[in-house]
This record gives sequence, C-alpha cells and structure tokens, in this order.
Amino acid sequence: MPSSVGAPALRAMDSTVLVPMVRNPLSSERALADAQEFPAETLRLVGQRRDALRRKGDLWADFFADEVRRRIENGSFLGVLWFGPGGEPVALAHWEPAGEVGRRGQVYLGEGFQRRSVLEAFLNRLESGPTAHPPFVSWSDEIPGVSEADREAVFAGRGFFGVVRADMRLPAGIELPHLAPLPGYDPRALSVADETRMAELLFRVYQESPERALFATTLDQHEEARRGVWNVLHGEVGEWLPRASFGIERDGRLIALTLANDFEGGLIAEVGVDPSHRRQGLARRLLSLTTDALRSAGFGVPRLVVSMWNPGAVRLYRSLGFEFVPGGASRIWLNLRALGVSRPPPP
Ligand SMILES: CC(C)(COP(=O)(O)OP(=O)(O)OC[C@H]1O[C@@H](n2cnc3c(N)ncnc32)[C@H](O)[C@@H]1OP(=O)(O)O)[C@@H](O)C(=O)NCCC(=O)NCCS
Repeated sequence: MPSSVGAPALRAMDSTVLVPMVRNPLSSERALADAQEFPAETLRLVGQRRDALRRKGDLWADFFADEVRRRIENGSFLGVLWFGPGGEPVALAHWEPAGEVGRRGQVYLGEGFQRRSVLEAFLNRLESGPTAHPPFVSWSDEIPGVSEADREAVFAGRGFFGVVRADMRLPAGIELPHLAPLPGYDPRALSVADETRMAELLFRVYQESPERALFATTLDQHEEARRGVWNVLHGEVGEWLPRASFGIERDGRLIALTLANDFEGGLIAEVGVDPSHRRQGLARRLLSLTTDALRSAGFGVPRLVVSMWNPGAVRLYRSLGFEFVPGGASRIWLNLRALGVSRPPPP
C-alpha cells in the first residue's frame, strides 16, 4: 500500500498541478500524485524497471535507478505516480527539470499493468489538464513489459519519432591506425581555458544536425552548445579527462575536438568536426589519440554512444574497430516539431 493512500500530496511542480482523483475508462478511480511524496512506491517501480533492464544486459540499468534514488533523497525528483483504486502503483512518469523546449520524460508501468491500454491512458492523463504544462518533447522507450510494436503504436501515434541510440566499445587488442600528421592541423590537449571555444565549435558542429534534438533544452543553439560543453566539463557526465581530450585549431579557431570523461569507465562524450573541415581524417586522428590516452590511463575499454540516424558517425566508429555492445541499444521518442528539427532522411 502506498504510504499515504487516500490523501495524495498535492504540490505544484514544474507548473504541473496534480489532481488527486481522476476518472478514466480503465478504472473507476485512479489517483495521480507527486512521486516525491511516495518514495517507497516510486523506488519499487524503479527497481522493477532496473531489474528488467539488467536482464536484458543494459549497461545503464543501475545508473538510471541510482539517479532516481539520489534525486528522491535530495528532494529534486520530478515525477508523478498513478495509483489504482486499491492504492497499488500503476505507473510512474518522471522527467528532467523542464527546459524551454518542454519536458523529457521516462515512463514505466507497474507489474500487472504492463499493457498498451494502460500506457495510452496514462499518457493521456499526463497531457490533459491545465494548458500551462510544458509539453513532453521526448520519451524513453525503455518500458519493460510493453511490446516493441505496442510502444511504437503508442508513441508514433502521438506524432513522436523514434531514434535508436547504441553503445559502442573498442575491444581490447584493437589498435587504432596512427595516421600521418596533417601539416597545419596539429592536435593538442584541451583545457578548461578552451571552454568558450569548444562551445563555439559545437554550435557550428550541430547547427544543421538533427542530433541536437536528442538533448536540447533550449531553442537558442549558442546557449545549448554552452550548456552541452559545461555538462561534459563540470561533472554532469562523470569527471572530465582533459588528458584524453584533444582539439585541432586552424586560423585561431578550434575546428575539431574529442572530449572524454570518466563515466563508469572511459567514455568518449563528444566528437565534433567543423562542417568545413570534414572528411579529411580529423575525427579519426583525434579518436586515435583519445583512445590511446584512455587506455594508457587505465580506463580499459573506450566506450561511446551513437544514434542510428547518424550513419556517418556509425561508419566512422565501425571503420576504426568499435563494435556495438550487446543489449546496449535503446530508443528515444522525439517530438521533432517542438524541438525545431526536421525529420532526418532514412539511413
Ligand atoms: C562524424 C564526424 C565527427 C566525422 O568527422 P570527420 O573528421 O569528417 O571524419 P573523418 O574524416 O575522420 O572520417 C573518417 C571516416 O568516417 C566515415 N565518415 C565520416 N563522416 C561520414 C559521413 N558524413 N558519411 C559517411 N561516412 C562518413 C568515412 O568512412 C570516413 O572515411 P572516408 O572519408 O575515407 O570515407 C563529423 O561529421 C561531425 O562532427 N558530425 C557532427 C557531430 C557528430 O555527429 N558527432 C558524433 C556524435 S556520436
């Protein structure tokens, strides 16, 4: 039983005003409540999802569950729980603090409720109500117990576009080729003093790329690039590793970079080359420096995450010997229109 069934806490969060009891076709009465007020029930659903993700070999299973626990403990968790009439938790949705573009959410259904009709009804419930709600602009597709076809029907039916993201790793023993230096394109290690230049480069790198829809929180692309670099350098994705992060300058401007972090091992968090300097082997050269540095610093197998609507990057990594991690693919559903991005051509 939830810790305070019958009196779900009402709290304005993220401009969402919760309504205690709702009527819907699936049940005579269900209550929507602030998940932060029901830690035991929230963590039970999160734990069920973590176990399901572990069973499928998902590398991030524990990370996501730990992150929820941390946020509940420090009081910053944003989410709603949906209770059945007997007080049983039916579904949980949670999200990052809403950005200017909207909310990025994750949704799970409790055991016994894992079916398409419940998912559909819960999403309808979340999207109804006061119009001041920031819209959901993305949903994670990791919803154990609901079939891929049903998830597809629900999210595509709501106008979301599915993108598969996949973990890749460079197996031990595979050495990246050391290409001859390109005159005038000398790589150097990066430092925090380069932060502004990194952001300027990433603005140019992602300006025309649909990739930015994956994480954007604001439609101001300069600001987005600044935030992206800040997150990598200042602890949002583990500890930044300047000694494994490299850049190339041309005419006083940074035109290519790789950024690596210690995020449960060596993670290549960013690879970007200025559009006017592509296909000259700059990414290949920087990746070989970064992977060597990660290995010699004892970080083991270098990893990265790539989206399948970025076939050029997939080809780049595969050509270097990176392989897909089994169980390491996940889909994210995006509202491209709200994110200001046009649908990419099929790979
Ligand atoms: C992906 C990216 C980093 C590649 O940089 P680059 O310096 O142009 O890459 P390289 O010249 O080293 O390319 C090496 C190989 O990768 C593959 N490749 C790179 N870009 C490609 C593209 N657009 N289409 C097809 N293959 C591509 C090719 O096999 C290429 O070898 P080739 O030129 O001999 O055919 C660059 O296009 C970029 O910054 N893209 C936007 C940001 C991004 O998507 N980053 C990756 C996020 S996971």
